[in-house]
Amino acid sequence: MNGNVAIDVRGLHKSFGETEVLRSVDLTVYSGEVVVIMGPSGSGKTTLIRCMNLLDEPDAGSVTVHGRTLSYPARGSGRSRRRLIRDIRVRTAMVFQHLNLFPHMTVLQNVIEGPISVRRLPRPYAVEMGERLLAHVGLGDKRDEYPARLSGGQRQRVAIARALAMEPEVILLDEPTSALDPELGAEVLQTMRSLAACGMTMVVITHEIPFAREVADRVAFMDAGYILEEQRPSVFFGAPATARARSFLHLMTEDDDPRPGLEQTG
Ligand SMILES: Nc1ncnc2c1ncn2[C@@H]1O[C@H](COP(=O)(O)OP(=O)(O)O)[C@@H](O)[C@H]1O
Ligand SMILES: [Mg+2]
Repeated sequence: MNGNVAIDVRGLHKSFGETEVLRSVDLTVYSGEVVVIMGPSGSGKTTLIRCMNLLDEPDAGSVTVHGRTLSYPARGSGRSRRRLIRDIRVRTAMVFQHLNLFPHMTVLQNVIEGPISVRRLPRPYAVEMGERLLAHVGLGDKRDEYPARLSGGQRQRVAIARALAMEPEVILLDEPTSALDPELGAEVLQTMRSLAACGMTMVVITHEIPFAREVADRVAFMDAGYILEEQRPSVFFGAPATARARSFLHLMTEDDDPRPGLEQTG
């Protein structure tokens, strides 16, 4: 972590109709950090990261990405604001929980579509980058396949390569392994480990505790629209500060074999 702020959200509020989903959320992510977001279903995790790239726009608060700040409620001229929104979206790439490749495009076409149409990169340059990224996620030999012929884990790795192809400031991943069988999830986790090792800034919603323990710099625990605590993983999994996090972790682990790592605090 080098102290540069990659993404900062302050006082985010978001409601859908009567439902208040985010109630004053602050979160700062530094360049090179991996922040894992955990919390019960419906606590606002997905909404938070969708607000981070303005796929959902908050009702109040501010979103700063790479020094560019957008505040809500909206003020200012439509034009410069739209440019700012576009800029923030391009710098924050999302990987969704449910696989979302274009089915009618090959793997390589999926990866280079954004760079060509949004970033306006010359095609040969985009192809070269796409091939490099596919090799990086271990799918160099699948470039001409269609998504339907890949496993779920392979498709999710293509989605990660596609996000990286935008050369974002930060990559936001929403439960990237939860729709996958464990073995296929494991290859996606391995890809995320290697990205973290390369210094990629990541915000990951995941319930994969061993992954979070190993890779996260911080765990942010959400409940009912708030971040209740932000801790280093050794602290969060060893001795969470809030009763809510303790009961959440208890529920998360009670079905499994005892996890020897869980009691350690180191
Ligand atoms: N587009 C939407 N319209 C209406 N309600 C929504 C929408 N998106 C999310 N919600 C509601 O917001 C709450 C939080 O959702 P979400 O951010 O998806 O939580 P999580 O990812 O933690 O499960 C849920 O009650 C959900 O039903
Ligand atoms: Mg969610």
